[in-house]
Amino acid sequence: MLSNDKNIIGAKLVIGNELIEAGISIIDGKIHKIAKKNNLPKTDTVINAKGLIIIPGLIDAHVHLRDMQLSYKEDFFTGTCASASGGFTTILDMPNTIPPTITCENLKRKINSAKKKTIVNLGFHAMLTNKIFELHGMARMGAFSFKLYLNGDQNSFEINDDELLYELMQECEKMKVPLTIHAEDPFREKRSLNGSLEDLADLHNKELEINAVKRIITLAKKSKVQIHICHVSTFEALALIEKAKKDGSNISCEATPHHLLLSNESFNELGSLVLTDPPIRDRVNAKKLWNAMINGKIDMVASDHAPHTLKEKLSSNICDIPSGIPGLETTVPLLLTKVNSGRLTLSRLVEVLAEKPSKIFQMRNKGRLKEGMDADLTLIDLKAENVINSKNLYTKSEYSPFEGFKCKGKVSKVILAGEVIVDSGEIIANSGSGEIIRRG
Ligand code: DOR
Ligand code: ZN
Ligand code: ZN
Repeated sequence: MLSNDKNIIGAKLVIGNELIEAGISIIDGKIHKIAKKNNLPKTDTVINAKGLIIIPGLIDAHVHLRDMQLSYKEDFFTGTCASASGGFTTILDMPNTIPPTITCENLKRKINSAKKKTIVNLGFHAMLTNKIFELHGMARMGAFSFKLYLNGDQNSFEINDDELLYELMQECEKMKVPLTIHAEDPFREKRSLNGSLEDLADLHNKELEINAVKRIITLAKKSKVQIHICHVSTFEALALIEKAKKDGSNISCEATPHHLLLSNESFNELGSLVLTDPPIRDRVNAKKLWNAMINGKIDMVASDHAPHTLKEKLSSNICDIPSGIPGLETTVPLLLTKVNSGRLTLSRLVEVLAEKPSKIFQMRNKGRLKEGMDADLTLIDLKAENVINSKNLYTKSEYSPFEGFKCKGKVSKVILAGEVIVDSGEIIANSGSGEIIRRG
């Protein structure tokens, strides 16, 4: 759905390190011109965005939209509504669904179903498999990466086989598709536990992540494959990634808002609601991760939106509690609060939530305010205050570990391909009005 022409005036724009006062002319869903109001082409449709700041439509490269047989947790409509309302115009869905995105057939089914429901730009990660023809097929269908769960979930091959893994890395390199990794070595069965939530987090101790990252870096050294490490949770693993970058590996990483902003002290208060894999570590670790993020050592922030039902999260049997935290609607207000308190610049926020994800996952015409780019825009009110209340969110999951957090800075309007899809925080788009996107 393309728009006719439209001008947005009165706002300030984040371009590079600058905050400039300028208007945007949109024609046919693209940013046609960025200029002072009087130099924009004339149009009847003018949006006055006085008092707002315009940033590129944000990108969340790590989202579990569920749907299919897990649609009771989230579906393509509710998940993409959460995305839009949270300020994200483009998201990438993870493949650990039922059925998993592991064959062309399954990817096709997902795309066909999502087409009718998405209200934002939606792309798909596919699962790494040893069926090479499926890999090639899914790459041709536009998969943004192949995901490898080193902790053993849902793999179709022996993940402890280094030789095989190296061969698959070479295959990804040939196709020029990145390998996206959940970097934790396999852990003991939850069922062997009868202890507390801390015990459960202990099962996923730091060493599991550090060892998995070491293993991947060693294997990838011999290859030019592009590697992306998801949700880095330990400062030690981050240091290994930094060193590998310096040594010439093609490697990037992301961190989640919960690993950056929470610590395991919140276990007492939040219990199982804060349970996630990899787990949230101690306060000193979180502080180090935050500093690394603002200093450019973490490439991007991704929510790892992983919704479950409240009932599942509050299960009395510890073995039944699923890991995962929803984050599409809390990430931006939390980070804007940090902008307000001087702990993050708007230009760094744009880098980690738009420019870098677009670059790393090769999204066409996204991630920057520039003439010729898609007119996907997030308009924020930096002064508006809001208290996080999971009852007011579009996601089906009815919990947030950030419940009650006072935020300053809010998503006010969202524009997708020139069309307003969120106005004053309310979704005004129809199911299926978004677009399925492909890599490259
Ligand atoms: O906590 C998590 N939840 N970690 C994962 O890797 C998967 C995710 C999920 O899908 O719920
Ligand atoms: Zn993961
Ligand atoms: Zn995830």
